[in-house]
Amino acid sequence: MLNLDGNTAIVTGAGQGIGREIALLLGEKGAAVAVIDVNLEAARETVSRLRETGGEGLALRCDIVDYAQVQEGVKEILAWKDRIHFLVNNAGITRDNLLLRMSEEEWNSVISVNLTGTFNMTKVVAKHMFKKRFGRVVNIASVIGQMGNAGQSNYAASKAGIIGFTKSVAREFAPRGVNVNAIAPGFIETAMTSVLSEERQEGMRRLIPLGKFGTGREVAKIVLFLVSELSDYVTGQVINCDGGMLML
Ligand SMILES: NC(=O)c1ccc[n+]([C@@H]2O[C@H](COP(=O)([O-])OP(=O)(O)OC[C@H]3O[C@@H](n4cnc5c(N)ncnc54)[C@H](O)[C@@H]3O)[C@@H](O)[C@H]2O)c1
Repeated sequence: MLNLDGNTAIVTGAGQGIGREIALLLGEKGAAVAVIDVNLEAARETVSRLRETGGEGLALRCDIVDYAQVQEGVKEILAWKDRIHFLVNNAGITRDNLLLRMSEEEWNSVISVNLTGTFNMTKVVAKHMFKKRFGRVVNIASVIGQMGNAGQSNYAASKAGIIGFTKSVAREFAPRGVNVNAIAPGFIETAMTSVLSEERQEGMRRLIPLGKFGTGREVAKIVLFLVSELSDYVTGQVINCDGGMLML
């Protein structure tokens, strides 16, 4: 049931962290994975790890903020495999600051990568999915987009935006056989969270009923569910992967 042989996936921001774990798990299950990242070396490293476990991958340098680069990248992927079945919009950044100290650049860069990047990728890939009348899109949001966080108004706005975007395009794409869902991870052990002080990390752990941070692999398993036939009748949903931190 969870055999993805013959399917092609795109995972953005898969050069490290959660995206890399998503790429590796989908590859392990048989999908060919196009690994997109602004950091080509990191994308290549993910692909070489994919190959070590018998998977197939293509590393691409692409800044998802740039629509022309996204079009070029997707063209390259379609020359490699003639179908794209799954798109995982995972690439995201933080530029934290309190609102009154937040620069225009801090605001714009986070909205551009997290939200406009998701729009660019989805628009270009959906055109192809519509022709085939099949596709699965998974957007990586965040609990911060649901509950807010002091010092992260830009990030929270971008992630709340992703949730609204997911629900809107899920309605648009449903008649075309394309399901669109989002995952809202809580605190996941990656480079993004390791920069926080031990004291802040401890404070956060206290908010999590399961008592620990999550792993990229745990988020990847929800992605696997959402691209597999197990979730054929699921669209426009947000699945929290947060150890019970936020119960809506
Ligand atoms: N780590 C967490 O606790 C956590 C929690 C909730 C949500 N998330 C979300 O999960 C996703 C992955 O987070 P992570 O912790 O693995 O981050 P990370 O910083 O470890 O990795 C992000 C990757 O995205 C790439 N990237 C950045 N800008 C890009 C661009 N313009 N075009 C293409 N690639 C780009 C980076 O090079 C990097 O490889 C993000 O969307 C993040 O917001 C993370």
